[in-house]
Amino acid sequence: MLNIKGMITPIALGLIFGLFLSVVPVSSVSAADQGTVAWGGKLYDKWFKIAGSARPKGTHVAWPASNTKKKGSATHRCKACHGWDTMGKDGAYASGSYQTGIVGVRKYDGENPADVVAILKDNTHGFADLMAEKDLTALGVFVTSGQVDMDKSIDRASKKFIGDVAQGKQYYVTMCTNCHGVDGKLPKDMPEPLGKLSNKNPWEIMHKIQNGTPGEEMPALRALPIQVTADVGAYLQTLPE
Ligand code: HEC
Ligand code: HEC
Repeated sequence: MLNIKGMITPIALGLIFGLFLSVVPVSSVSAADQGTVAWGGKLYDKWFKIAGSARPKGTHVAWPASNTKKKGSATHRCKACHGWDTMGKDGAYASGSYQTGIVGVRKYDGENPADVVAILKDNTHGFADLMAEKDLTALGVFVTSGQVDMDKSIDRASKKFIGDVAQGKQYYVTMCTNCHGVDGKLPKDMPEPLGKLSNKNPWEIMHKIQNGTPGEEMPALRALPIQVTADVGAYLQTLPE
């Protein structure tokens, strides 16, 4: 005879174990050291500025001949082929001067960093001799646990941050003015004012606020709630261009 009472405990245990299985991998992914993730994020940008290797000469082997707008070291940055939004041809680089038709790296979100390291050493990428193992690993950690879904923080059509301008101002005046000045035009050697860049390329802004800027004293805010970055971004978009 089937004993209903006797089955309750195994079912309950099964449920608890099932929950455990579904929760643990997620939490272990988000437990990646945020400093390592941010370092990987900076390497995703101009890795040759901080990885101790020389600025690459010539155009990257995987850069398609169809794109004649960019050449040289610019084509060696991860972001050049895969986008600031990490969505490649399905994101902001679907068109414009960085249009290549290359896929994004979204598929590796939540995957194993070692799989990404293996990709970075393949013939398409050829990074094995250009970066130390710890840097390749940091890139793997960034790709597998540091990507953010930027469409949740930036409206793609209007390019506007989905954030609270007044709140963002309070973050800006306490965390950013020391280096960037009240109107976002410092330091002097910055390519363009933050007001201009934020409206032109909010995805680049988001990446840099989250991870910092390679070789600069800029902090990385990724350990704070993502909404902080969205609010700061929204405020930057009100600064003079
Ligand atoms: C010059 C262009 C270029 C650069 C620079 C580049 N990649 Fe790629 N990457 C590619 C191409 C092309 C593919 C697709 C390869 C294939 O399908 O075999 C790819 C694939 C990938 C994939 C697998 C994506 C998938 O969905 O299968 C990952 C992860 C990746 N790259 C990470 C990086 C990282 C991290 C960097 C920087 C260190 C980088 N790539 C730099 C061109 C580039
Ligand atoms: C300790 C100084 C410092 C602080 C604090 C700081 N930054 Fe920066 N930031 C820099 C430097 C230096 C650069 C690089 C400027 C350059 O390229 O010449 C930079 C670059 C940037 C860039 C990229 C600009 C570009 O054109 O590439 C953005 C975006 C940015 N900062 C936003 C912020 C925001 C928002 C805050 C506050 C949350 C902040 N920064 C706090 C020093 C700082």
